[in-house]
Amino acid sequence: MYDPKEVVANYALQLVPNRNIIGLGTGRTVRKLVEALARNGLLESKTFVTSSIDTELLVSSYRGKVLSLFNGVRPEIYVDSFDVVYPQGDSYVMIKGGGGALLREKLLSFFSGHRVFIGESSKLKTSPPFKVPVEVVPVSVSYVVGRVREKYDVLVREGEGKIGPVISDNGNIILDLVLTRAEDLCKLDEELKRIPGVVETGIFCSHLYDEIVLGSPDGRLEVFKKS
Ligand code: A5P
Repeated sequence: MYDPKEVVANYALQLVPNRNIIGLGTGRTVRKLVEALARNGLLESKTFVTSSIDTELLVSSYRGKVLSLFNGVRPEIYVDSFDVVYPQGDSYVMIKGGGGALLREKLLSFFSGHRVFIGESSKLKTSPPFKVPVEVVPVSVSYVVGRVREKYDVLVREGEGKIGPVISDNGNIILDLVLTRAEDLCKLDEELKRIPGVVETGIFCSHLYDEIVLGSPDGRLEVFKKS
């Protein structure tokens, strides 16, 4: 048996050597990739742009060079994971933001050269229920929750080590919408972003990726490349 996160991290590892500026997402899968980069001596020789304080601290702990997003640097490649991959039409939509990093993840996905999303095959879901994270400006939270509740159950995300809402790296609040019925997620993304106070959603449609890679415990890889 293999660890699927290791399997997909190894796939991403072979895409890195001939690129210099690497964008990195957030979460346990990306952590596996960073560990693999460190083992292969690639952390010292590359420059990184990260989607969260967590990944920035991780890369820095190996003495990797991290550029601030304020530099506006466009990574040659961006590697991240996802919480859910959902087939929609003849492609896939991803749901991200389980770690609260959806805004910077979407920013880097949009502005990077080649975008690769890696994860366990168990994250492929053919039907709801699933939760869609939505980042909102704090002062808007009651209005947005009130509006969204007309159609969905919604939770204000709370964590540990602090009473009250989780505050994102951007100083915002994260809501989790509970979807119980199949629907067009890209349309939902647009509808949600029309509500004042909504900054971003965790819905990643096909313009935001080039490859989705699924790894299984038997070591098998499935690669979906956008044509
Ligand atoms: C972070 O906000 C998320 O979008 C992550 O990419 C996603 O939750 C995957 O995380 P894991 O690799 O920990 O499953």
